Parts: sequence; C-alpha cells; structure tokens
Amino acid sequence: MGRIFVLGAGAMAESFIKGVLHDEAVAPSDIVVMNRQNRARLQELTDLYGIGQARAISDAADADVVILSVKPYDIATALQGMLPYLNGQLLISFAAGIPIDFIEQATERRAQVIRAMPNLPVAVLAGAIAISASKQVSATSVEHAKGLLAQLGVVVELEEQMMDAATAFSGSGPGFVSYFLEAMEQAAVQLGFSAPMARELLIQTVLGTAKILQEWRLSPAELRVRVTSPNGTTHAGLNVLNERGMQDAIAQALIQAANRSQEMGQQYTAKV
Ligand SMILES: NC(=O)c1ccc[n+]([C@@H]2O[C@H](COP(=O)([O-])OP(=O)(O)OC[C@H]3O[C@@H](n4cnc5c(N)ncnc54)[C@H](OP(=O)(O)O)[C@@H]3O)[C@@H](O)[C@H]2O)c1
Repeated sequence: MGRIFVLGAGAMAESFIKGVLHDEAVAPSDIVVMNRQNRARLQELTDLYGIGQARAISDAADADVVILSVKPYDIATALQGMLPYLNGQLLISFAAGIPIDFIEQATERRAQVIRAMPNLPVAVLAGAIAISASKQVSATSVEHAKGLLAQLGVVVELEEQMMDAATAFSGSGPGFVSYFLEAMEQAAVQLGFSAPMARELLIQTVLGTAKILQEWRLSPAELRVRVTSPNGTTHAGLNVLNERGMQDAIAQALIQAANRSQEMGQQYTAKV
C-alpha cells in the first residue's frame, strides 16, 4: 500500500496506526510518525507498533500517503511546514471541521485531499468513518484511502456538505448512545440491580441489539416491532418514551449538533 507519513502522534494517529497494522494490511516498516515535541510519545508508539520515527518533516516527500492527525487549530502551521515536501501524495485529514478547500489552499493543491470524520470507536477498530474526497483525487486514490480506513471500521463516502451531519450523527453518536445507556443503567440500579450487574447486562443488551440488527438485516423499527407485544412490557415502557417526546428530542439534538459543527467550521472557511 506504499509508505505512510503520519503527522501527529495523538489518540487518533494511534488508532490509525493500530488499524492499518492489523491483519498486516501495512508493514510497520512502511509507517513513520512525527509530532511537534513530545519525544516520549513517539518512543511509545515506536516501541508498541515497531514503526519508524520521521527524522524531519522533509521525510513526507518520500511518502505515498500523508495522514494529517493534528488538532484543527494546528493544521495551518503543520501544513505550512509540510508544503515544500508535497508532491501529489494522498493526504487524509482527520481534522474535525476543516474543509477540503482550506487544506487545498494551504497545500497549494500539491496533494490529493481526503477529509475523514472518524468516531471514537476507531480506537477498537469498530469505527464509523465518513469521508469526502476532493474532486482532484483520482478514483484509485479514493479506493486506496477507503482500503486503509476500512481497517478501522465502516467507511462511508459522502458529499462534503454532509460532513456536519456526519459529525453530529456518527461522530457525536457514541456520546448520545452513552447518554441513553447512562440513563438505562441508573434506572436499572433503581430497580434493584447491583451496579456491576446492571453494567454487564447493559453492555450485552447493546452488543446483542447491534449484532441482531446487523446479522438479520433488520431496521431498528422492525426490531422494535418484533420485541413489542401488544400490552406487553416493552409496549408499556415505549409508551412513556413516546409521551415524553423522545423521538423529537433526538431529532433536535442531532440538528443542534450539526449546526454547532457548521458554526465551528466556519472560522476555517472564512480564512479561505
Ligand atoms: N480522538 C478522536 O476520537 C477524534 C475523532 C474525530 C476526529 N479527530 C481529529 O483527529 C485529530 C487528532 O486528534 P487527537 O485526539 O489525536 O489529538 P491529540 O491527541 O491532541 O494529538 C495531536 C498531535 O498533533 C501533534 N502536532 C500538533 N502540531 C503539530 C505540528 N505542527 N507538527 C507536527 N505535529 C503536530 C501533537 O504533537 P505534540 O504532542 O508533540 O505537541 C500531537 O501528537 C484532530 O484534528 C481531531 O479533530 C479525533
């Protein structure tokens, strides 16, 4: 799959490295990583994964793929340093909210830019990753990027205008699901379960529900109908959720999150 230069050595960079090394999709000797100053962190990644450390930013010139995994506010500085060494590499940016246009201008269109929005479960290689490719990126490069990111989870390609929606949905999704589960767990304890038992049943209920949706190819609505007998227990509980307007609350939460994502990204659009 070619040589990979990872700029940034934080949590996201580590998830990427772990993912692409999994199943030997990429050899450790094909990856180098670089950060700004934290040498102990670089050593940690080198020791854990057997990858290399870049000697200097100029090593990016030898890479086929550049992974941009610095915080959004560090992107402009990072790209400025890398600019002289860009020569058409595939550049995958994980930076939340940074538009493709911003990166293309900062790199003077010397790289093939793909914007990716991963979510936290990439850390356990069960992520949901939305990607959007610049029109300048060849179909082969898009496939290459998808192949790499597929090692971290499910990859969905979208028009860039959908990125705020993806940030709200799959990006913030683990937070929303956790909030619901937090309430379930507290309620279970109120019903008399010990906290550890409540947690064990909770996690298995979620895993089992997700697995059955995936394996039986049911929609959530179909699964809900299957487990809801008229006047049964699920029915009684769902009536309360309906009366309290849960569906509307969720819809509003996603809209609000997408609006916030758009607002946060605007500062970068404005500079272009
Ligand atoms: N973590 C997630 O779950 C997640 C989810 C979606 C998107 N993202 C995106 O992924 C990106 C990385 O997030 P993270 O959580 O991994 O951040 P992080 O843990 O803070 O890591 C950022 C890394 O960037 C390095 N860095 C900053 N400026 C640099 C520069 N000019 N040159 C080289 N390295 C530089 C830092 O090096 P030093 O430590 O040496 O300063 C650090 O290694 C962000 O843009 C974020 O929006 C993350």
